[in-house]
Amino acid sequence: MTRADTVDITVYLKEKKELVDRLLDSFLPSSAVPPTILHSAMRYSVLAPGKRLRPILALSAYEYCNGDTTANDCPIYFAMGALEMVHTYSLIHDDLPCMDDDDLRRGMPTCHKKFGEATAVLAGDALHDEAFALLARTGSTQAVMELAEALGTMGMIGGQIADVEAEGHQVTKEDVINIHNRKTGALIRCSVRLGAILADADSDTLTQITRFGEKIGLAFQIIDDVLDVEGDTKRLGKNVGSDSKKKKATYPSAVGIEQARKDANNLIEEAVSVFSEYEDNILVHLARYIGQRNC
Ligand code: IPE
Ligand code: IPE
Ligand code: MG
Ligand code: MG
Ligand code: MG
Repeated sequence: MTRADTVDITVYLKEKKELVDRLLDSFLPSSAVPPTILHSAMRYSVLAPGKRLRPILALSAYEYCNGDTTANDCPIYFAMGALEMVHTYSLIHDDLPCMDDDDLRRGMPTCHKKFGEATAVLAGDALHDEAFALLARTGSTQAVMELAEALGTMGMIGGQIADVEAEGHQVTKEDVINIHNRKTGALIRCSVRLGAILADADSDTLTQITRFGEKIGLAFQIIDDVLDVEGDTKRLGKNVGSDSKKKKATYPSAVGIEQARKDANNLIEEAVSVFSEYEDNILVHLARYIGQRNC
């Protein structure tokens, strides 16, 4: 297990982000290879400066479960690449005019602004396909199934359609939790589960990691909603106020901003409580970072 007391979380995040960036650069098709416009659009959106949180969570869960990272082709690296590719596909599609209609992402024009809508739709599709090809290289059918389920109609896509349908409606806290658990929580939960599964964790540990993933996944989207109200466009790399403009069903719109922050903090504490009181591991630090982040 990676002990947090020997690693500074800021340094850890920076180091792992660099690792993810290197992996993505090597996994993505070259923009010199046809269809060049599509490959360029995929690289543009994926290699833009994201936090790389999902692959970092997967790696941290894998390390927590004593997964081996000594080989260059260890399975977790494929899963990390796949997670960031599907996440970026979801962002490209989420930003389209028919969805959230956003112009700025990761501090740059959104994919459709830069390349046009048709290329953006296809770049998202292609990233989804590349991700599954990559994940298949782990040799784990369970891992492939996990990601498919997290992304599908019972997971992220189910959440995205509910999010679109809820636009313009007053929603309850329960409604929003239901949307957020699916549109964002499912992939975050899947990220830590993939780490545990690829490390051959026992079933008790997998249950513990799953509960942790559920709690931080919901907290992550609550904070995302809060930052759309209180955050800073430059720091976030996306336009604040986008949710109220689109009359989105957000957590603060259901319970107010203060309660939203409180609930996110409680979820982080619940996440951390899956580990014993004195355990001070990287996952605990990542959870606290999620609760306190400003970008
Ligand atoms: C944004 O995700 C979309 C949500 C699910 C809230 P991130 O905040 O992880 O975005 P990047 O990857 O750092 O750009
Ligand atoms: C995004 O939620 C969820 C997915 C992309 C699946 P948001 O619409 O709140 O994400 P941002 O704020 O545009 O990053
Ligand atoms: Mg959205
Ligand atoms: Mg959006
Ligand atoms: Mg948002």
